[in-house]
Amino acid sequence: MILEGKRIILGVTGSIAAYKAADLASKLTQAGAEVHVILTPAAQQFITPLTFHSITHQPVVTGWWQPENGGAIQHVALAETADAVVIAPATADAVAKLAHGLADDPLGGTVLATRAPVLIAPAMDAHMYENPATQANVRLLESRGVRFVGPEAGRLASGLTGLGRLSAAETILGALRQMLGRGGDYEGKTVVVSAGPTEEPIDPARHITNRSSGKMGFALAEAARDRGARVVLVTGPVALASLYGVAVVRIRTALELQAALAKAMAGSDILIMSAAPADFRPAAVSAQKIKKGPEDAMSLDLIKNPDILAGLSGDFIKVGFAAESQELVQNAGIKLRDKGLDLIVANDITAPDSGFGVDTNRVLLIDREGTVEALPLLTKAEVANRILDRLVRFSHR
Ligand code: PMT
Repeated sequence: MILEGKRIILGVTGSIAAYKAADLASKLTQAGAEVHVILTPAAQQFITPLTFHSITHQPVVTGWWQPENGGAIQHVALAETADAVVIAPATADAVAKLAHGLADDPLGGTVLATRAPVLIAPAMDAHMYENPATQANVRLLESRGVRFVGPEAGRLASGLTGLGRLSAAETILGALRQMLGRGGDYEGKTVVVSAGPTEEPIDPARHITNRSSGKMGFALAEAARDRGARVVLVTGPVALASLYGVAVVRIRTALELQAALAKAMAGSDILIMSAAPADFRPAAVSAQKIKKGPEDAMSLDLIKNPDILAGLSGDFIKVGFAAESQELVQNAGIKLRDKGLDLIVANDITAPDSGFGVDTNRVLLIDREGTVEALPLLTKAEVANRILDRLVRFSHR
């Protein structure tokens, strides 16, 4: 949501990775940004303006002298009204030109003319990137507040392997969102979020788990990062990609979750517990795979896991979730009180479009005063922001 309505200048330079900029332009446009692409002359050898125009529905800048785009003055106007400039991919040549303030093409001129934050995603041969000249240019730009994302290690166009691959579009988007979120209403706050299920082992092949996908917790972590927070995400086993700019701690069992949270909460301001830890675990874990015998039934002894949330206390705001299939308000209210929470997010997990696994959620926010706010069906990203809107009004205990 942070990209909604934002005016983003996407500079594309002459790298074989230029084709990946089309995907980035598409993702930015889908996220609601107004994307203005500037192609350097070298970039136009790899990809055409038509590609970007078709994706962004905006004029594409290819040179200083385009009367249909308003000529050189138009590029200065673009620079002045931009919310951010992203240069992806940025070649060694582009990084050098930007470091030394050259304006021999519209991209260089725009970066000089803008007050908007600049994010550079380099892509080049590994030796070119490691060269002291490139490294000095990177440091010079960083010292002026320009941010870099990547490059990443992997296979390069030359066939060699090394540090020089353009970061994935999702990673660049994450870095951009974090950059735009600087100075947001969570700046200076540390938010710890838990996400996903736990796995309680039975033997080397089997475990007890639940249907939590981690989507709600990841959406919370992403939203807090986008609003300027330092975020620690403690997650059980999930199939979601790591989030740029979020410190991720991976755990498997409820006991590991408990230990990781105890460590993460030192000095933190807010805990949002959206994980679904198992309430019980097998009393004994078999070192060998349990064999099927002649019996028609078997039983498993379970022992109680600690109530992690109830056991955590300190000078921080404590938020829990309640996954309920009946008596939503009443059951969530009991959990709010018993676990000493400031806010509980009550989830109806019986609706097919809410709770486990899906991208949407329908929740009630219940605070210590008993105020109940019913939110409509929203995406998990929207729910996350509504929770953060509510928490920002809370003061520390
Ligand atoms: O991950 P998704 O697929 O996106 O699904 C999201 C979700 C449904 C998992 C999430 O929105 C949610 O409701 N999380 C809480 C799940 C849960 O464990 O609810 P509970 O009512 O059993 O527990 C109440 C609170 O105590 C929760 O904050 C839980 O994290 C916490 N708890 C539970 C058990 C335990 N041993 N220790 C705990 O601290």
